[in-house]
Amino acid sequence: MARITASVFTSHVPAIGAAMDMGKTQEAYWAPLFKGYDFSRQWMKDNKPDVIFLVYNDHATAFSLDCIPTFAIGTAAEFQPADEGWGPRPVPKVVGHPDLASHIAQSVIQQDFDLTIVNKMDVDHGLTVPLSLMCGEKDPKTDAWPCPVIPFAVNVVQYPVPSGQRCFNLGRAIRKAVESYDKDINVHIWGTGGMSHQLQGARAGLINKEWDNQFLDLLIDNPHGLAKMPHIDYVREAGSEGIELVMWLIARGAMSDVDGPAPLPKVAHRFYHVPASNTAVGHLILENQ
Ligand code: DHB
Ligand code: FE
Repeated sequence: MARITASVFTSHVPAIGAAMDMGKTQEAYWAPLFKGYDFSRQWMKDNKPDVIFLVYNDHATAFSLDCIPTFAIGTAAEFQPADEGWGPRPVPKVVGHPDLASHIAQSVIQQDFDLTIVNKMDVDHGLTVPLSLMCGEKDPKTDAWPCPVIPFAVNVVQYPVPSGQRCFNLGRAIRKAVESYDKDINVHIWGTGGMSHQLQGARAGLINKEWDNQFLDLLIDNPHGLAKMPHIDYVREAGSEGIELVMWLIARGAMSDVDGPAPLPKVAHRFYHVPASNTAVGHLILENQ
């Protein structure tokens, strides 16, 4: 059967992608940020998954305000990097896994989560920046991402957005779905976006290091408790875009300690850095024991 062996959590700031695409990663501003991902890039090589189930949010790129799915699973064979206003990022196309994606859609919808099935969409920085951070520079002409990716988009842009508890429970359903797939493959689940940031209004630029680090602690040790945190706490403490962090609970809910029987996951890597553009960058790699 298929198995989720690890989860990865990382922020997705678009300026990080731009820094990589323009060869600025060694500049004084960016070097400390990228150093925090040196371990992760080696870890990706040493622990190469067969498929990445990548939870992210679209920023009104694939889904305009005309139509906003709460949870959308990408079932296509491939996804192109989106044009977000400066042209598409020069990174490889994302190869999907239609067979596993369809299986997960079937299983998760039958577990009473209403997913939107998306057979065609472009993917924005919410998905491509985490891939770039974890996999390093890739030339779209000669390189490919290391494995197929199932994009899973969550609405954290237009209220009402899903609660942390619903995201956590969805992660539990995704784990069951993966474990009922009959091929013996290794799946990683990624939760992306966050940490504290606010891009607009009177509190634009807000960063809350203490709250972010407490979030990381709770995500590791007490995800059941963290899932109960209401929206207002994310927005008050981590800023309006801090709400992106509910997506991390989907990936955490899919880890094997949540419904047992398994111990807490091993923390393979933990990193926190301020700032990247307007955002605090948090990053964790958790391995199932
Ligand atoms: C920034 C952060 C985001 O999450 C985003 O989607 C866009 C911009 C920023 O910090 O600049
Ligand atoms: Fe964002």
